[in-house]
Amino acid sequence: MSLWQKHAIFEKNSIVLLLGILVVIAVGGLVEIVPLFYLKNTIEKVEGVRPYTPLELAGRNIYVREGCYLCHSQMIRPLRDEVERYGHYSLAAESMYDRPFQWGSKRTGPDLARVGGKYSDDWHRDHLADPRAVVPGSVMPAYSFLAKTDLDYRHVAEDMKVQALLGVPYTPEMIEGAVKDVEVQASVDNPDAGDLVKRYPKAVARDFDGNPGRVSEADALIAYLQMLGTSVDFKMYDDKANIR
Ligand code: HEC
Repeated sequence: MSLWQKHAIFEKNSIVLLLGILVVIAVGGLVEIVPLFYLKNTIEKVEGVRPYTPLELAGRNIYVREGCYLCHSQMIRPLRDEVERYGHYSLAAESMYDRPFQWGSKRTGPDLARVGGKYSDDWHRDHLADPRAVVPGSVMPAYSFLAKTDLDYRHVAEDMKVQALLGVPYTPEMIEGAVKDVEVQASVDNPDAGDLVKRYPKAVARDFDGNPGRVSEADALIAYLQMLGTSVDFKMYDDKANIR
């Protein structure tokens, strides 16, 4: 009996065929799944990506609280139209410290993965307070209360502890200094700004909401928006890969 004739066993007997299918799928599945269990990391490390500063983390919490993700995605896909509109496509590493992730699946407004540095703090402040004041015809809701509400950052250290538990590399020193770091980052010319940058490279300390007297929710949210997509220096990659 040739090999082809043996194949008839499968074609004539549905139970044997079923078992055959199970064996084949199991092998395929194992080949895909087993490596994930012993690979140390499935995300390629990328230079420049760091955990959020306490102020940015607080801003991110406001972003989640207000449901900004319902209208905004944070993932630029590797398609030409996306890359031309928003910039370099998102890398996995850029959201490795996002818990929960903010990729989103709906774009009523534009993708925000690289909105950092695109506008001034003033623009964000005006836009959040009244989107139609800067973008006529915008359907984004106004969040004017953010600039009028003091940021509650008493528990920011606890928040960082939970993030650390989930794998974000916050050191005990970062957690201990969390409350102070919030105040330092939201102020102008603070003598401790250098320490902040040492802990969180490229972090910028300034008055984000235009009101130096207080740390508002707008301070936190704008600090977060202004760092989105700015961690990785893509000039290096673009020159090498000639993307764009
Ligand atoms: C109902 C949908 C909706 C929600 C919710 C929403 N936005 Fe928007 N957003 C839009 C739309 C539409 C635009 C484009 C028009 C404009 O710029 O106002 C926009 C634009 C923006 C822009 C400018 C992006 C760019 O590249 O020009 C930013 C920044 C932004 N939104 C931030 C936020 C934040 C932060 C929140 C949550 C506090 C939020 N949005 C909630 C719909 C929304």
